[in-house]
Amino acid sequence: MSFTVPHAELDRLEHRVQAALRTADDSALDILGHGEVTLVLRLRTDDGAYACKRLPVFPDRARFENYRRGLDDYLRRLADSGLNVADTRLWHAHRPGGRVVAYCVQRELPERRLCSRLLHTEDETWAKDFFSRFLDQVDRTVSPSLGLDAQASNWVDTGGELVYVDVTTPLMRDERGREKLDVRLFFTSLPWVLRDAVRLSMSKSIFDKFYGTRGVLLDFLGNLHKERLDALIPAFLEQANGRLTEPITAAEVAAYYRGDARMWELIQRLRAADRFWHFKVLRRPYPFLLPPPVDR
Ligand SMILES: Nc1ncnc2c1ncn2[C@@H]1O[C@H](COP(=O)(O)OP(=O)(O)OP(=O)(O)O)[C@@H](O)[C@H]1O
Ligand SMILES: [Mg+2]
Repeated sequence: MSFTVPHAELDRLEHRVQAALRTADDSALDILGHGEVTLVLRLRTDDGAYACKRLPVFPDRARFENYRRGLDDYLRRLADSGLNVADTRLWHAHRPGGRVVAYCVQRELPERRLCSRLLHTEDETWAKDFFSRFLDQVDRTVSPSLGLDAQASNWVDTGGELVYVDVTTPLMRDERGREKLDVRLFFTSLPWVLRDAVRLSMSKSIFDKFYGTRGVLLDFLGNLHKERLDALIPAFLEQANGRLTEPITAAEVAAYYRGDARMWELIQRLRAADRFWHFKVLRRPYPFLLPPPVDR
């Protein structure tokens, strides 16, 4: 499903986003979905609808170009490993002071085919078949230098084929195990009280899980608690453990989820407070679109 980015429409979308940030009111935006970090916006055009993922504003062109190279590399390596990645384009525009605003743009895929949704609407036979296809994809993709954030909400099942959509945070490491991503830039949406602590002490552990099959599976299974899909965990554990040398237990999944949920809850609360501080006290727009509170 190849496409060309609708430039004029994206320009208008960005103006709407800026108005939303200025007024701290995103009710005029058409929201397609969200993750822990940001919102995904729907853009309707005469040529179909798009999913638009706004990136943190880049302070200069070099930082943007660096991101672009990383994203291209990531998309290529995922495809080379046999993963079906949603066709993704990078759109950007220049802002005053040399800054660059950019979006990852994909075709809008049918929401009812989102795997986190299908796991609710389809039966257990479908779920098991999905999970076995999922395990194949994860197994052949993940390595110490190539990571995947494989939560159910990051996959769309289009006609029996799993398509991966969550590519805005390219997960790649160099030979020494350091993130290639501009972690500092991607953490600018965290409140300043957290930023340094997070960057220094948490980032390694936040990212570690994405680079090994066991960690990716633990994260996927833990998130089933958040999705209220706990009932599927025993069957999935059996399937997963067939492929792991060190099996995962249900207790480990629950403990992992409690830790993960606490971390994201704290981050979300602090970000909401930070936004309040910016807007009400400093009277400056808060520069990020925040996802709604998640019930954990
Ligand atoms: N191409 C698409 N078509 C339809 N819906 C999409 C598409 N891409 C994303 N979405 C919706 O938006 C949600 C979040 O998208 P995505 O996973 O790409 O971002 P994210 O989770 O916010 O990323 P991050 O975890 O890096 O913050 C998805 O779970 C899905 O509901
Ligand atoms: Mg996601």
